[in-house]
Amino acid sequence: MVAALHWLALPAAVACWSCQSRPALDFGAGLDVPYVQTSPSVVHAMLELAHVRPGETVIDLGCGDGRIVIAAAKDFHAHGIGYDLDPLRISEARANAAAAGVSSQTEFIQQDLFQAPIWKADVVSVFLLPPVMDRLLPRLRSELSPGTRIVSHSFLFHAWPPDKAIHPEGRTLYLWTMPAGGK
Ligand SMILES: C[S@@+](CC[C@H](N)C(=O)[O-])C[C@H]1O[C@@H](n2cnc3c(N)ncnc32)[C@H](O)[C@@H]1O
Repeated sequence: MVAALHWLALPAAVACWSCQSRPALDFGAGLDVPYVQTSPSVVHAMLELAHVRPGETVIDLGCGDGRIVIAAAKDFHAHGIGYDLDPLRISEARANAAAAGVSSQTEFIQQDLFQAPIWKADVVSVFLLPPVMDRLLPRLRSELSPGTRIVSHSFLFHAWPPDKAIHPEGRTLYLWTMPAGGK
């Protein structure tokens, strides 16, 4: 039941945001997006879609319990950094990384995703709402290096069509690659 409510939360939030008045959404504690987990197999599909390679840095903006960052470290031998504003999520993520044996390859930092340093990323993963994606886009464009991949669970940028979309388990994942010489 709780899981079902979680899966309904993001579409409901999108529907709310899409209505004419576009009210500011309040998910509590300053969050711009509610906590909804990506399923483990979809996490893997995201990391495969982004072609994560050993030694690369994967940054998850709004990392929840750390599952994307932990899978990137454990299964793709990447270095992972997760940012989340919710301190409970950061505690969970650190405990989950320790249980998975990847504490030394991962960092979890309590920070607003709009302030988080992203320049190190080879891959940025997001599961965020459309208005948050659109607010983030100027930073991604100005701070990420050419060749950096962005992988998104479910949601698009209004002003930048994806290079690729796939549909694992009835979800939609999108991929963008930062182009060389200006975006
Ligand atoms: C939809 S969940 C995604 C969790 C995880 N990335 C996953 O795919 O399983 C979004 C996450 O973003 C976090 N969040 C919301 N607003 C944020 C903000 N302004 N800065 C950092 N994290 C935020 C929430 O606490 C939540 O954990």
